[in-house]
Amino acid sequence: MKVIVNGAGGHMGAILRKLVEDGNQGSTLAAAVESVGYAEGTLSSLEMFHGEADCIIDFSHPAGTKVLVDFAVKRKLPLVIATTGQEQAELDMIQQAAKEIPVFFSHNMALAAMLVSQLCKTAAKAFPDADIEIIDIHHNRKVDVPSGTALIIANAIKEVRSDATFNIGRPNNGKRTKEEIGIHALRMGNVVGTHEIIFNTGTQVLTIKHEALDRAMFAEGAITAAAFLIQQKPGLYNMNDLVKTI
Ligand SMILES: NC(=O)c1ccc[n+]([C@@H]2O[C@H](COP(=O)([O-])OP(=O)(O)OC[C@H]3O[C@@H](n4cnc5c(N)ncnc54)[C@H](O)[C@@H]3O)[C@@H](O)[C@H]2O)c1
Repeated sequence: MKVIVNGAGGHMGAILRKLVEDGNQGSTLAAAVESVGYAEGTLSSLEMFHGEADCIIDFSHPAGTKVLVDFAVKRKLPLVIATTGQEQAELDMIQQAAKEIPVFFSHNMALAAMLVSQLCKTAAKAFPDADIEIIDIHHNRKVDVPSGTALIIANAIKEVRSDATFNIGRPNNGKRTKEEIGIHALRMGNVVGTHEIIFNTGTQVLTIKHEALDRAMFAEGAITAAAFLIQQKPGLYNMNDLVKTI
């Protein structure tokens, strides 16, 4: 699979480029594009690329959305968008492009995070009376509480427990209710991101845990997404669609 890396001068783009150059999941580098900053061996615009490619993987900036989708549509190239923070107008452009090419768009390219959600859904269904508690652990610089991933997991569980309520940080005295899902944030040191989900039935405890060690997992997930995407028809895809095929 020949990959165009867009945003190759950025933190994630550089990690992705290295993985692709190293042949991660059978990928090879068609081109590395860095249109705003500078990085050695990169093209300064997508339009400068005239070679052969199978897909584009983008870790850049929402301001580049129009140029990106216009190029992908013109060249009929499947497009993986990992960039976050798009405004409505940019989201509309992505939707529009997905009518003509396959587009994979996810704010969390960590495949394991979505697998964890899926596993938690199964566990919550299998043990409908279990008390469920979620612990999210991150470095001491993180601002948002709970983490986006903890919320993705909690919402996935809610799909099979429609009466579930979220008790964030359990701030008040009182017994827990049957329906509640406790969500607790620990912020310390340099932890990249750990999510632990505990199901306690009273007779047994099932723990599902994911520990992120390196941001490279997002780039790896984006390559997995690209390998999935190049087999698809035009449309908008996300991690749920990918996990269903595993
Ligand atoms: N989906 C995920 O799982 C996931 C994971 C990590 C990061 N991200 C997102 O990926 C993006 C990049 O993250 P990063 O940490 O590498 O950031 P970064 O700031 O290190 O890199 C940003 C890149 O975008 C380029 N850029 C800036 N303005 C641009 C424009 N107008 N047009 C085209 N390119 C432009 C920069 O030159 C740079 O190459 C962010 O949106 C971030 O939130 C997503």
